[in-house]
Amino acid sequence: MAIAIFTDDPGWHGRQLQLAFAHLGHDSQTVSLTSCRLQIGMNPSIAIPGFTGLPEAVFVRGVPGGSLEEVVFYLDILHGLHALGVPVYNDGRAIERSVDKAMTSLLLQQAGLPTPKTWVLRDHDQAVAIAEQELAEGQFIITKPVFGSQGEGIRRIEKSTDLLWLTGSRGIYYLQRFVHCHGDGFSDHRVFVINGQAVAAMRRRGKFWLNNVARGARCEAINLSGELAELAIRATHALAMDYAGVDIIEDREGPLMVIEVNGIPAWKGLQSVCRVPVAERLAADLVNRKIKGL
Ligand SMILES: Nc1ncnc2c1ncn2[C@@H]1O[C@H](COP(=O)(O)OP(=O)(O)O)[C@@H](O)[C@H]1O
Ligand SMILES: [Mg+2]
Repeated sequence: MAIAIFTDDPGWHGRQLQLAFAHLGHDSQTVSLTSCRLQIGMNPSIAIPGFTGLPEAVFVRGVPGGSLEEVVFYLDILHGLHALGVPVYNDGRAIERSVDKAMTSLLLQQAGLPTPKTWVLRDHDQAVAIAEQELAEGQFIITKPVFGSQGEGIRRIEKSTDLLWLTGSRGIYYLQRFVHCHGDGFSDHRVFVINGQAVAAMRRRGKFWLNNVARGARCEAINLSGELAELAIRATHALAMDYAGVDIIEDREGPLMVIEVNGIPAWKGLQSVCRVPVAERLAADLVNRKIKGL
């Protein structure tokens, strides 16, 4: 039996995980969710190429985008594996919550965590009215695709003429008050949490207000403060994740704000500035808690 690593882009992360699992005596194989199938009435009822039966466990490194049916199908595979007793890391429910920025924001707020004011809605006129009101109060507004990642499709509305291109993403408007960050330039924090522990963190310094590494932000080592660690841990707990990459921005007015909780966070940039072997920590957590039940 081997561990399946679901990804469409094995690359560096896939290799890191495979090495880490091998180090712990577990074979693993990367495979795309697009090539799996449900086969009801047969054994096993979920077929994964390269696996004769069910995998020992699953590490979810990537869930492809696609039509609603495609995405639901990929989640069906994750939920189905869980129902068949296969440990899924992060599990399908956690992945669902975290790819959905609307639900993430709602759960963060419900857990009493500081997160920017956010509106999610379908109606264009309401969206324009909200943005106009925010601009009138001297605020900027950010619009994001509900299922986006790596800074894709995020826009900032700074003045009333920007409202001309206020469009929803696949019919839904996700509007969030812009947080002006503390300090020079643009930066936020990425904190990596595994099993309720903040194991590593960095500052991401953006070329402009988008601080994603995929958008060219520079990674800088930081000392993880107690406040940052506690907030990241509470955010991960609010989304019920085994591990997460938590984006936290420091408002120039003072408070730390949780922007996002990633259930499929990359760690290549983080690994370049921290000593903690992230892949080894992830592999050990999955094997110890989910396979060995320690
Ligand atoms: N409300 C906000 N105020 C200021 N900057 C923001 C805000 N929301 C997002 N950003 C910036 O955009 C980046 C990407 O936003 P995020 O919500 O994390 O989406 P993604 O899933 O694309 O990473 C953040 O890391 C941050 O730099
Ligand atoms: Mg992010």
